[in-house]
Amino acid sequence: MQNERRILVVDSDRDFTQNLVRQNKSSRIDLVIAHNRADALTAIAHARGPFASVLVNKKLADYGTYSVVRQVHVRHLGTPVYLLSEEPIENEDLKENLNALGIRQVLPKPLTYEELVKQLESVLVGFKSVAPSQGIKDSSMVGTELGAPENDFTPIRAQHFLSGHRSHFSVYVQIRSNRFLKILNAGDVFDARRLEQYLARGIQWFHIRKDAHRSYLEYCDFVSKKLIEHGMHSIETQRDQVLNLGEETLRYFGHAGVSGDLIHYAVNFVQDCNQLTKKLQLDRHREIGAFMNNLVEWEHSVSVALVTSLLMRGLRIENERVQNSIGLAALLHDIGKIQTCPSLIHEDLTRMTEQEIATFKDHAWAGATMIAGVPGIDSTTVQAVAQHHERRNGKGFPLGLGAGKINRVAEIVGLADEYTNLIHKNKVLPEITKIHFLQDTLLDGFSTEVVDSLCVLFLRN
Ligand SMILES: [Fe+2]
Ligand SMILES: [Fe+2]
Repeated sequence: MQNERRILVVDSDRDFTQNLVRQNKSSRIDLVIAHNRADALTAIAHARGPFASVLVNKKLADYGTYSVVRQVHVRHLGTPVYLLSEEPIENEDLKENLNALGIRQVLPKPLTYEELVKQLESVLVGFKSVAPSQGIKDSSMVGTELGAPENDFTPIRAQHFLSGHRSHFSVYVQIRSNRFLKILNAGDVFDARRLEQYLARGIQWFHIRKDAHRSYLEYCDFVSKKLIEHGMHSIETQRDQVLNLGEETLRYFGHAGVSGDLIHYAVNFVQDCNQLTKKLQLDRHREIGAFMNNLVEWEHSVSVALVTSLLMRGLRIENERVQNSIGLAALLHDIGKIQTCPSLIHEDLTRMTEQEIATFKDHAWAGATMIAGVPGIDSTTVQAVAQHHERRNGKGFPLGLGAGKINRVAEIVGLADEYTNLIHKNKVLPEITKIHFLQDTLLDGFSTEVVDSLCVLFLRN
């Protein structure tokens, strides 16, 4: 069955992928190749059927390895994922974390086609026992029946258990409408004979609880962050990978009904901005470099740039030079914090002491001073950084400028900044991003066109 032998290989190394394709003459496997994150995500989203396995290079640039792994867990739960690596991974902690991310094995390169097929034998056919993995436990026993709405479950292909790996989840079969039978505990491996019996009875799909799926994705995010922060990569690669952690913002876009095209646009915009920072070698400037290497700040910057891009698009700003100024302003808007208040990541005035508020209010100007005169950064960007906390109603800082005195780019970045902070809080306070909540607290600080651009995107309901 052709479908079950489809393998997605995500690697920017074209020599490697071309070799695989060339040697796959007899089409023993159905190879799907992606050379970057965007192509991989598209392949995962539009796959004609399941993948027998997914191979991702550890050093996938720009938006990264973790994003692809995560998307596999979201869309094709249970698909075995392998990590391609230019060098062997010896560190036991790292191995354990990769395992927790649902990565079955690291495949060191160089890797020939024959070696690859041999390594994947277990997922293509047959059974094999392997290393333990983290599981989402639930306490009921195998054989317990559960009454629950079908909506509470995510289907998972029974076929994926053929490789004999331990399951991250407790597994259920549906016995009738809204009725499920637990057949496997998280952390256990299917007995081969039992699994064959299910397949022989034509059972194609098992089920796992959606809350377990969600917890697992959150857990994967946590592990990804940990891996990024603790040096699996050079700082430059880490920064690129942080773009991946704009995932929370992208996920919010999805929930808020932002179209796939717009999300793609936002991702590309931030990718272009990141390339621009590289072209301008901004990280060679000591203070800018320190800011960019502060991954927590950089993650915030990336999220603000994602929201900014959508506002910009709504405002039909298409000039490339202007877009670059806006992108750099979004990425660098908080650079002054590195000098004035490096610990005030949350930007929430209600959680600051008077002294902290005073230093926090200095960051806008401090930032503008730091980037003024840097080749490639124009005066629009500098002014936007200086004014990103100014508000039309005069309630902003540092100068309390009113209507007509605030740079439009500062308004766009300022609103994107505020809304990004709300997106973070939205997980605990879902009401916080609703229009009625924002009307009194936020929107009168910005001009109508900029507010409209936000409302069209996120606040239709
Ligand atoms: Fe700020
Ligand atoms: Fe900010």
